[in-house]
Amino acid sequence: MNILVTGGAGYIGSHTVRLLEQAGGKVVVYDNLITGHRDAVKNSLFVEGDIFDSELLGDTLKRYEISSVVHFAAYSLVGVSMVKPRDYYHNNVVGTLNLLDVMLANGVNKLVFSSTAAVYGEPDSSPITEEMPKNPTNVYGRTKLIMENVMADYSRTYGLNYIALRYFNACGADPAGDIGEDHLPETHLVPLVLKACLGKTDGLKIFGDDYPTRDGTCIRDYIHVNDLGQAHVLALKALYNGHGSDVYNLGNGNGFTVKEIIEAAEAVTGLTASKEVAPRRSGDPAVLVASSEKIRQDLGWQPEYIDIKSIIATAWRWHKGNPDGFAR
Ligand code: UFG
Repeated sequence: MNILVTGGAGYIGSHTVRLLEQAGGKVVVYDNLITGHRDAVKNSLFVEGDIFDSELLGDTLKRYEISSVVHFAAYSLVGVSMVKPRDYYHNNVVGTLNLLDVMLANGVNKLVFSSTAAVYGEPDSSPITEEMPKNPTNVYGRTKLIMENVMADYSRTYGLNYIALRYFNACGADPAGDIGEDHLPETHLVPLVLKACLGKTDGLKIFGDDYPTRDGTCIRDYIHVNDLGQAHVLALKALYNGHGSDVYNLGNGNGFTVKEIIEAAEAVTGLTASKEVAPRRSGDPAVLVASSEKIRQDLGWQPEYIDIKSIIATAWRWHKGNPDGFAR
């Protein structure tokens, strides 16, 4: 299988690229390097390009005889999406529409698409199953839901065959320790706690401790990035084996509070993170926990990392070894 991975130099992308290659896939990474890192995929076939560049995209599909696409290239910060909605609709919606047009024009109809738990908004019950109402509370979630709906229509009418994976909270790093999470700015909890343990920030802000949860802080479902990546390998194999278009949640099924994540990180590192309680961050639902029963049943997906400390230990290995992230 010759696979184009858009956004393959990003955090989840680069981990997935490695797993696809280990599974025998011939991967071409396609990334504009705005947020991705060339060093994260330094041993992979690489094309520097943008999903808006139809000519380069089409040439790349032809030249490498691509038969499927894994599409990560997108903006993914909830907070920024609320203040720069145009950037998010343009990149995530128009950019993806462009990619779909180029794929279909070149006879490529298999697609694994990065979606998000943010499509559900503030759910009525937990854990969340795929058919529950989709009411995103932020622009980022809306861009992904729009594209899920577009893909369903293209699947019905133009023969697109896609699997959308709704990620919960990706974290951790490849146990090899040479690739990991490196965003600028960093907004995610696990890397920020580890940076606080290393004394590399002014301290961690706990966004709200008055939520209706066991210790007042938000509950999220933290899933190891390689378990997420492995789901893409299975989804792609399913598409090649004739599986029809589908949508799956991807989480661990266990919820942890912000305070529990901080305690686990302190236990793993043996260090203390400086922290303080701050006001709630707007748009944060109290609890987001996935049911991933459907992907377990249909595709035989099994997370390898269940224990939160073992997940954080892999992230710690990356941060300790690379306190400034990838070279810039
Ligand atoms: N948090 C803090 N302090 C921080 C950063 C985060 O208390 O400095 C809290 C947040 O309020 C939240 C939890 O830690 O309760 C996790 O926050 P993240 O920013 O790490 O992740 P989110 O849950 O906000 O969002 C992530 C992805 C989204 C995706 C979502 C789906 O970044 O793209 O998971 O669950 F949509």
